[in-house]
Amino acid sequence: MTATRDTAADELAGLDLPVNGPTGRPRTEFPIPATLREHGPARIIALCNQKGGVGKTTTAISLGASLAEYGRRVLAIDFDPQGALSAGLGVSSHDVNNIYDLMLGTIKDPHDAIQTTSMPNLDIIPANIDLSAAEVHLVNEVAREQILARVLRKVSDEYDVIIIDCQPSLGLLTVNALTAAHGVLIPLECEFFALRGVALLVETIDKVKDRLNPALELDGILATMYDSRTLHSREVLERVVETFGDKVFETVIGRTVKFPDASVAGTPIIQFAPEHPAAQAYRQLARELIVRGAVA
Ligand SMILES: Nc1ncnc2c1ncn2[C@@H]1O[C@H](COP(=O)(O)OP(=O)(O)OP(=O)(O)O)[C@@H](O)[C@H]1O
Ligand SMILES: [Mg+2]
Repeated sequence: MTATRDTAADELAGLDLPVNGPTGRPRTEFPIPATLREHGPARIIALCNQKGGVGKTTTAISLGASLAEYGRRVLAIDFDPQGALSAGLGVSSHDVNNIYDLMLGTIKDPHDAIQTTSMPNLDIIPANIDLSAAEVHLVNEVAREQILARVLRKVSDEYDVIIIDCQPSLGLLTVNALTAAHGVLIPLECEFFALRGVALLVETIDKVKDRLNPALELDGILATMYDSRTLHSREVLERVVETFGDKVFETVIGRTVKFPDASVAGTPIIQFAPEHPAAQAYRQLARELIVRGAVA
């Protein structure tokens, strides 16, 4: 029974849906992007939602890997003390230089903290539980909201995109991410309380834009864990589209057990199950971002 359900859900992972896409808009083909001849400077994208478990880390890994597969040079920043991004990309986060060392200034050069991953073109700066002390340690720093921006400036020219995986909170670390970023991508899980708290998130983004980072843009809302078999999932997505209109990506990520499986393997789904509809959905998201101009 379980196997049947999982298979059915897998088939719905962002593909094989009616002619109109799940957002109700006509389905668009996003073309395979042209190869880049030169790299950088990076556009910095923060993945934010203070609600936990909505797919921020999964999106950071899968989108980063998809863009890397299209030849974009990608740097992923683990900005969550839980270190899930580091684990999901199979890199060590203990006894290695990490983002906390860079934030604190105990190491000055981000190159000393960058690790490569199993995916060509995809690098990472890891994090571990030490980062949880950052909010306390940085509170008296001058320009404490701009520390990450200053760190990333030193490597920005070498990458096409830098993806920041935020922790589920709107504290100083997330404000640092929003201050460093050019764009924000908000993953929303297709379930009842998806929109609860989003007003506060948007308010935080507006405040950062107003006071610290006038160029900050909302790149889009990504519906995740969508299950087209349930009326519930469809209703939630409808509400999200009503609220955010065209800001909702046409690409919708279906619910599938392949994601937790890939996390356990410490491998992006793009490599773990390259032909799986969920991998295809994240490739489509990468192409949609390129078409929208959010990534080179
Ligand atoms: N589309 C999906 N279908 C099924 N499971 C998913 C999907 N996306 C993510 N998951 C699983 O849901 C859990 C939460 O996802 P993820 O860690 O990406 O969320 P998060 O927003 O980063 O969470 P946190 O707020 O704790 O950092 C993980 O176990 C992940 O494997
Ligand atoms: Mg996470």
